[in-house]
Amino acid sequence: LSFGTIQIGRDSVTPSLLMAVGSAVLGSLQFGYNTGVINAPQRIIESFYNETWLWRFSEPISHPALTALWSLTVAIFPVGGMIGSFSVGLFVNRFGRKNSMLGANVLAVLSAALMGLSQLASSFEMLIVGRFVVGVFCGLCTGFVPMYVEEISPTTLRGALGTLHQLGVVIGILLAQILGLEWLLGSLSLWPVLLSFTVLPALLQCVLLPFCPESPRYLLINCSQESEAHEGRLLDGSINVAEDMQEMREESHRMQQETSVSILELLRTPAYKQPLMVAVMLQLSQQLSGINAVFYYSTGIFEKAGVSQPVYATIGTGVVNTAFTVVSLFVVERVGRRPLHLIGLMGMAVSAVFLTVAMALLEQLAWMSYVSIAAIFSFVAFFEIGPGPIPWFIVAELFSQGPRPAAVAVAGFSNWSANFLVGICFQYIEQLCGPFVFIIFTVLLLAFFIFTYFKVPETKGRTFEEISAGFKRAGAGGADKYSASEEFNTLRGDDPDL
Ligand code: GLC
Repeated sequence: LSFGTIQIGRDSVTPSLLMAVGSAVLGSLQFGYNTGVINAPQRIIESFYNETWLWRFSEPISHPALTALWSLTVAIFPVGGMIGSFSVGLFVNRFGRKNSMLGANVLAVLSAALMGLSQLASSFEMLIVGRFVVGVFCGLCTGFVPMYVEEISPTTLRGALGTLHQLGVVIGILLAQILGLEWLLGSLSLWPVLLSFTVLPALLQCVLLPFCPESPRYLLINCSQESEAHEGRLLDGSINVAEDMQEMREESHRMQQETSVSILELLRTPAYKQPLMVAVMLQLSQQLSGINAVFYYSTGIFEKAGVSQPVYATIGTGVVNTAFTVVSLFVVERVGRRPLHLIGLMGMAVSAVFLTVAMALLEQLAWMSYVSIAAIFSFVAFFEIGPGPIPWFIVAELFSQGPRPAAVAVAGFSNWSANFLVGICFQYIEQLCGPFVFIIFTVLLLAFFIFTYFKVPETKGRTFEEISAGFKRAGAGGADKYSASEEFNTLRGDDPDL
C-alpha cells in the first residue's frame, strides 16, 4: 500500500485514476439529472405552456394538446439519446475517447441555454428542442463514459470503476429530485434555472478533463503511440504496467487483422453474433425491467397507492437507488457480474409481485400503501445490485478494441429505444391494466433471468483477450454442445464464481 492510493486486490486506485474516472462520470451525472429533472415540476411547466398558448392564440390550451406537448417534452429526451448513442462510433476513433467527451459538452451548454431561456422567450419549442439536444448529449455520454472508464481501468478494477458510471447517474437523479422540490428550484420563477443547472457539471468537466490521460488502449492500439500509452498506464496506477502493456500489444497485434469494425460488419460477422446478443439482451433487461416507470412516474404511482407525501416517497426511491449502487460497487469484483445480475432480476420480479398485490388490495386494506412503498424501494434496490450498473460497462468488456465502438453504439441504441418505449407506453398500459401493470414487467424479468442464466458468461477478472477468446471457443464448440457461459467457466479451468 502506498501513500495516497487505495489497494484493491493486485491493483490500486491512485488519485489520478480516480480523478480521470471522476471527471468522466460528470457526464453520467448529467444523464441521471436530465432523466429525473422533469418529474417534479410537471404541473408548473405545464402552466407555462398554458400561458404561452393563451398569449399566442388568446385561448387556453386544450387538455389533449397539453398532454401531447408534455409527452413530447418527456419522450424527446430518449429520442435524442437513441441518436446520440448510435453516433458514438463516429467520434471515438477519430478524436479519441477523452476529446470526444470534452467536445460533447458543447451540446450540454447549448441545451442549457435553450431550456434556461425558453421562459424569457415565451417559447415552449425552445424547451422541447433543448430536451432533444441534451438527450443527444446523454446518448453520447452513455457510450463515451463506460468505454473510457473500462479502457483506463486495470483488469481487476473494471467492474468497480465501471459501476461509478451508474453511481454518477443515480446521484444525478437524486440531485434532480431534491432540487426539483417546489421550495428549492421547482418553483414558478426558478424552473428554468433547474433545467439549465446541467451546465455546471458540463463546465466542471471541461476544466478537469484536459488534466486526465487519454485511454492508453486507444493510444497504443488505434494510434500506435507506445510511450504515451505506457505513461498513461503509470498514471493510472496499474501495478502490473508491463503485463497490461503486453495484453494491449497482443490485442493490437490481433487488431491488425481485425481493424475497426463498422456497425454493418458487426451485425453481419458470425463471430460477433453471440456477444452482441448478450450485450443487447442485457441492455433490454435493464430497461424492460420497468425501472423508468418508477423514475418517470413514481409520484403518480405513489399517489395511486394512497401515499400521503408522494414527492418525499419519490426522493426516498432516489436515496435507496444511490445506497444500493454503492453496495454493488463494493461487491461486484468479489461476487462477479453474472450472480449479481441474476439476483437483481429475481429480486425485482418478486418485488413487482408484492407491488401488484399491494395495489390490488389497497381498497380493502389501507395499510397496503406501506407495502407498496416497501415493494418499490426493494424493486429499486435490486435493480442497482446488478441490472442498473452491469449492462452499461459489460458491453465494453465483451468486445475487443476493433468492434468495441460499434458494439457500444448498437447496445446503447437498444437501451435508449427500450427506454423510449417504456416512457411513452407506461401510462397507457397502466390505464388498461390498472394495478396489474407491473405483472408485465414480472414476466419480462423472469424471461431475462432465464436468458442470463443460460447465456451470459462471467467476465470478472478476465482480460479483454480472454473474454473474446471464450466467445470464439464457445462458437467453435457449437451452440448445442456448450453454452457460452459453460465455455467461459471451463476456459481457464478455474472457479466459475457461481
Ligand atoms: C440506468 C438506466 C437509466 C435509469 C437509471 C436509474 O442508468 O440506464 O435509464 O434511469 O439506471 O438508476
